[in-house]
Amino acid sequence: MRHLVSYPDERGQSSGKPNRCFDLRENDDYLAWRTEKLAGYPETVDDLRVAIADLNAVTPAETEQITALCRKANMAIYQTKTLPVDQLRPALGRFATHFGLCRSEAHRSAEADGLVPIEVATKGGRHGFIPYTDKPLSWHTDGYYNKPADRIRAVLMHCARPAAQGGANHLFDPEIAYIRLRDENPDYIKALSHRRAMTIPGFVDQDGSFREEAPGPVFSVDRFTGALQMRYSARKRNIVWRQDSLTTEAVAFLNHVLEHDPLVFKVNLQAGEGLICNNVLHNRTAFTDHTEPGKTRLLFRARYKDRVLNT
Ligand SMILES: [Fe+2]
Repeated sequence: MRHLVSYPDERGQSSGKPNRCFDLRENDDYLAWRTEKLAGYPETVDDLRVAIADLNAVTPAETEQITALCRKANMAIYQTKTLPVDQLRPALGRFATHFGLCRSEAHRSAEADGLVPIEVATKGGRHGFIPYTDKPLSWHTDGYYNKPADRIRAVLMHCARPAAQGGANHLFDPEIAYIRLRDENPDYIKALSHRRAMTIPGFVDQDGSFREEAPGPVFSVDRFTGALQMRYSARKRNIVWRQDSLTTEAVAFLNHVLEHDPLVFKVNLQAGEGLICNNVLHNRTAFTDHTEPGKTRLLFRARYKDRVLNT
């Protein structure tokens, strides 16, 4: 009999998600979950798109479309009308709250509303950090360097102004990554679930504070929601992988999947478009920015400790 375990989250909600499917000893549960997961899975990036008439007043039908996509693929791309920045920021806050995203990360670059402007920064606190340049960003999940208590479960990323050229994101559902690895070799999952699989060495942060070494697994089951959680960075520097041949092979296989999988989606967000997701794997291509002030690439990002509601 399939055994369902539901976990209350920190708000007392229950996801109702089965979690034995992520247990390597429970292959029947895994196969049942896998079949359900892949049935009707989006095939192209256009399958992820949802039109939203008004970010401030999302309709029940729009809500259901976004929720269903996040439940199936852990992500949705919404398209709405462009708004001036002073109206956009509070609208994004309302939109996030509508989907249960209330507890935003206390990020050093976040402003009072929890939003971080992602743009080329030539001075100030963000200057010199790769997200705030026109350079490519390698595959990662957000907050991979955080301690488990500060894990990022959801991300909202909204495009106010695209680059002149480039700046696309590739997106990949961590649950599909899990399937690819487990199908190839279940021991890859075992290696990447080790509590010291991936370690971020201690470092002095931008604000001068010392961040302790952060070891942890790539794959884990969130004890609050029962959902699969993934923590990953393809960066070569400042990541210490467990010295073990299976870990090395598993990471190489994962990187191969990220380069070749047909379910990797590419999107170049245009003004008024955004991504709402349960912290999916993503990267960014390099871009050429506009030169005219006020026209340069500008995205707003917020990260949350909550998952998208009802997913
Ligand atoms: Fe990111």
